[in-house]
Amino acid sequence: TRTPVNVTVTGAAGQIGYALLFRIASGHLLGPDVPVRLRLLEIPQAVKAAEGTAMELDDCAFPLLSGIDITDDAKTAFDGVNVALLVGARPRTKGMERGDLLEANGGIFKPQGEAINAGAADDVRVLVVGNPANTNALIAQQHAPDVPAERFTAMTRLDHNRALSQLAKKLGVSVTDIKKLTIWGNHSATQYPDLFHAEVKGQNAAQAVNDQAWLENEFIPTVAKRGAAIIEARGASSAASAANAAIDHVHDWVNGTAEGDWVSMAIPSDGSYGVPEGLISSFPVTVTDGEYSIVQGLEIDEFSRARIDASVAELVEERDAVKALGLI
Ligand code: NAI
Repeated sequence: TRTPVNVTVTGAAGQIGYALLFRIASGHLLGPDVPVRLRLLEIPQAVKAAEGTAMELDDCAFPLLSGIDITDDAKTAFDGVNVALLVGARPRTKGMERGDLLEANGGIFKPQGEAINAGAADDVRVLVVGNPANTNALIAQQHAPDVPAERFTAMTRLDHNRALSQLAKKLGVSVTDIKKLTIWGNHSATQYPDLFHAEVKGQNAAQAVNDQAWLENEFIPTVAKRGAAIIEARGASSAASAANAAIDHVHDWVNGTAEGDWVSMAIPSDGSYGVPEGLISSFPVTVTDGEYSIVQGLEIDEFSRARIDASVAELVEERDAVKALGLI
């Protein structure tokens, strides 16, 4: 029997947590033969609710779930962690300035980075879901100097999956017919979903669409503003789809991407495609033997260049803002 993998989920009592934990415990995160031990980190006021979720996890009698610990202490939560899913974050409330938002999140992701640095297992992989995800990941990473920088990633897989679905609908194909779609940049309204390198049944996706107006005026804004549209319709932000994307992100990071395809992950830039080194920005990546690499050699035309640059400029601004606040 295999030793269980320690998976820590922060914000476990939140709505994404509720959609995420059951899928981790049922084997969708790592694989159908990998036992997991869950660690739930919450703020003190939400520990009781997390305990309630843990009772339900017990009641599922998942064969792969070897235990659940619940804590409000980051050091305890990340001790020995192999996979850290940082979901809990401080949301933007009415009238809140960006500086206040970044500062509030710095107060969460700095100590969590330190706790990961202090106690994580050597093979730790970190996915930040809590917004602003890219910059929160940067803050945590900067406070974990002993952990290889590339282990800190942020989630753009929900944007990737949204783009797949929108394109499949437009062309009347299955999502499995689409390969090599990319989200570039920040997980925000400036992100750039790129169809120019994507393929549909082997044909170039932008050519298959053959409708630049749709691409510019419908596809890109629909994907970029989908989060707001979900809030408008559901009265609450994306939860099950965000949890599903977190599962996809970690699953593919651990188990690899399919031959002839790639996925989108926000990862520390190595300077590829003109993205300043160190920024946590979304790229097309493939994964082999548990290590991701940025797909190289894609030709970036003027249209794509301008959009990538705009999103990357926003990441630079966020980085400079957290620097100015002394958070990194
Ligand atoms: P939620 O408000 O339902 O849950 C957040 C939970 O985090 C709460 O239970 C809260 O008590 C907990 N929390 C707050 N501070 C914490 C701390 N320091 N340590 C541990 N737990 C803490 O929010 P929801 O809907 O689950 O969303 C979570 C985050 O994910 C939000 O920041 C949201 O914006 C983000 N998100 C990101 C997406 C992406 O694509 N990257 C997509 C959807 C949501």
